[in-house]
Amino acid sequence: MKRGVSFLVTVAFMALASFLASAYDPSPLEDTCVAVDEPNNAVFVNGKFCKNPNLTVAEDFLYQGLNIPGNTSNYVGSIVNLINVDQLPGENTLGVSVARIDYEPNGQNPPHFHPRASEVFIVLEGTLFVGFITSNPEHRFISKVLNKGDVFVFPFSLIHFQVNIGHTNAVAIAAFNSQNPGVITIASSMFGSNPPINPDFLARAFQLDKRVVEYLQARF
Ligand SMILES: *[C@@H]1O[C@H](CO)[C@@H](O)[C@H](O)[C@H]1NC(C)=O
Ligand SMILES: *[C@@H]1O[C@H](CO)[C@@H](O)[C@H](O)[C@H]1NC(C)=O
Repeated sequence: MKRGVSFLVTVAFMALASFLASAYDPSPLEDTCVAVDEPNNAVFVNGKFCKNPNLTVAEDFLYQGLNIPGNTSNYVGSIVNLINVDQLPGENTLGVSVARIDYEPNGQNPPHFHPRASEVFIVLEGTLFVGFITSNPEHRFISKVLNKGDVFVFPFSLIHFQVNIGHTNAVAIAAFNSQNPGVITIASSMFGSNPPINPDFLARAFQLDKRVVEYLQARF
């Protein structure tokens, strides 16, 4: 299993290499730019300080534990373990990151989008129904049932989701062409904003009864 994960991660990063020319993250201007919180002996580059390259060590480029299943006991029945620049400082300025997603049967990664990345999605275990929706006005719903070994692409910033339609747990790896892809979950951002949006506004926007909006706001 661990060997399978590392092989597929390698494949995903090779696929991402061809996207980098059009990535939004900056192209690397130096061999390494390990993110550091402490600005002593550091250079500021686009959001994160770079560690003095003379002081970098292998651990700066290493994350261990993506073989460990996440705890899916939550209201959606899935969990994402995103290894972005905050978890793996060596990703700084390289325009890549990766995630492991676990799903219990009927679990889902609910509709969301990544404001700074496209996503290459690889199924390691199980059967997932996945899809994305194109922008206004077409709103085409492009969907597919994926099985172990299948690879799917979610284009830059489009709303997408995955549902485990199998009878066993499912596991997937997602690779991003950003060191910090970001995530905006549709339901929790619209109905769980802080402070809440006026329910009259949301009722009209979503064509819902105001009581339904208030119910949703209480849920999120
Ligand atoms: C790194 O080490 C080299 C060789 O000792 C030195 O010339 C250079 O100034 C060092 N770079 C930094 C940023 O400290
Ligand atoms: C998983 O999370 C749930 C809810 O937070 C918790 O009750 C349960 O103990 C956790 N299970 C494990 C194995 O950590």
